[in-house]
Amino acid sequence: MTPAVFLIILCVGVVSGASAFDLSLDVQWQEWKMKYEKLYSPEEELLKRVVWEENVKKIELHNRENSLGKNTYIMEINDFADLTDEEFKDMITGITLPINNTMKSLWKRALGSSLPNSWYWRDALPKFVDWRKEGYVTHVRVQGRCNSCWAFPVVGAIEGQMFKKTGKLTPLSVQNLVDCSKPQGNKGCRGGTTYNAFQYVLQNGGLESEATYPYEGKEGLCRYNPNNSSAKITRFVALPENEDVLMDAVATKGPVAAGIHVVHSSLRFYKKGIYHEPKCNNYVNHAVLVVGYGFEGNETDGNNYWLIQNSWGERWGLNGYMKIAKDRNNHCGIATFAQYPIV
Ligand SMILES: *[C@@H]1O[C@H](CO)[C@@H](O)[C@H](O)[C@H]1NC(C)=O
Ligand SMILES: *[C@@H]1O[C@H](CO)[C@@H](O)[C@H](O)[C@H]1NC(C)=O
Ligand SMILES: *[C@@H]1O[C@H](CO)[C@@H](O)[C@H](O)[C@H]1NC(C)=O
Ligand SMILES: *[C@@H]1O[C@H](CO)[C@@H](O)[C@H](O)[C@H]1NC(C)=O
Repeated sequence: MTPAVFLIILCVGVVSGASAFDLSLDVQWQEWKMKYEKLYSPEEELLKRVVWEENVKKIELHNRENSLGKNTYIMEINDFADLTDEEFKDMITGITLPINNTMKSLWKRALGSSLPNSWYWRDALPKFVDWRKEGYVTHVRVQGRCNSCWAFPVVGAIEGQMFKKTGKLTPLSVQNLVDCSKPQGNKGCRGGTTYNAFQYVLQNGGLESEATYPYEGKEGLCRYNPNNSSAKITRFVALPENEDVLMDAVATKGPVAAGIHVVHSSLRFYKKGIYHEPKCNNYVNHAVLVVGYGFEGNETDGNNYWLIQNSWGERWGLNGYMKIAKDRNNHCGIATFAQYPIV
């Protein structure tokens, strides 16, 4: 929590006082605190209630508008409802790479990234892909209050390729990446990129499993032990900013690590439906694992989606997953910063 935000909330709490709460929300507040195991000090309780009420009203408005067909997805009052947008932004996402256009073209040139030599036109690809059903995907993880989002899809994409190669699905170590990829430019719990993390695994010649190097959600010294390595990659492929190419990679290779632009105020309360956020652009600030794609309703209706695994726990969204608009002009930059490993 930044001091400024804290001060503002404190002021609201002090000025309006407990009596300014919407008393009709009392029961819901108690139930929510119990469900998400929230324990506050008495002072904190007042501040959190103010923030929570604001979020509840926003979510209820959004869902009322959804029933009128004004948006495409439903929100819920989840674990994050006691955080302000600023707090959420500071704590939960985590790409810091300045992915402006200059950086993007440099990055692509460095990787020789152009249209791959061979890729399929979409008509040749399956209409639905879900790698979870093929055994390529481990569990949904919780990044916690650490800006380590960039590490999760890297681990997820390597897990998928290792499974493809060996037939064994072994959860790999996110913490290994958080602690050890600083020489490649990552900053532990203060941000990083999937690109730098793949680079680490490549240069390091290995990655430990979650069993030998478990997640802690805070930065520590690098404890990588090559004796305990359980995966390695031979190279990784960076995709051009093109949803058809991303579709080809997801269909023919497996789960792909991708960046997205998170509009914090809406994505954090996503529950179900195809997320479409008019405020989205392609300035990527979060990282996710694309595990498939498909469409809802009739194929021609334009209700295509990418199926995405997030790192905000199973209680967020569709059991930790979400659907986000596909083939709608690279919505939220889903094809802007995508990579997959070769093992
Ligand atoms: C893009 O990001 C780089 C790296 O931070 C920075 O040096 C450069 O000035 C930025 N370019 C623009 C146009 O913002
Ligand atoms: C990692 O490797 C070391 C040295 O080979 C071994 O002693 C240790 O038990 C391993 N750690 C785990 C958690 O398996
Ligand atoms: C790795 O295992 C070898 C052989 O058991 C051992 O000599 C070496 O000390 C181990 N390395 C580490 C870093 O634990
Ligand atoms: C959409 O799909 C439904 C069910 O499959 C079908 O009955 C309907 O005719 C379709 N509508 C259009 C416009 O194709």
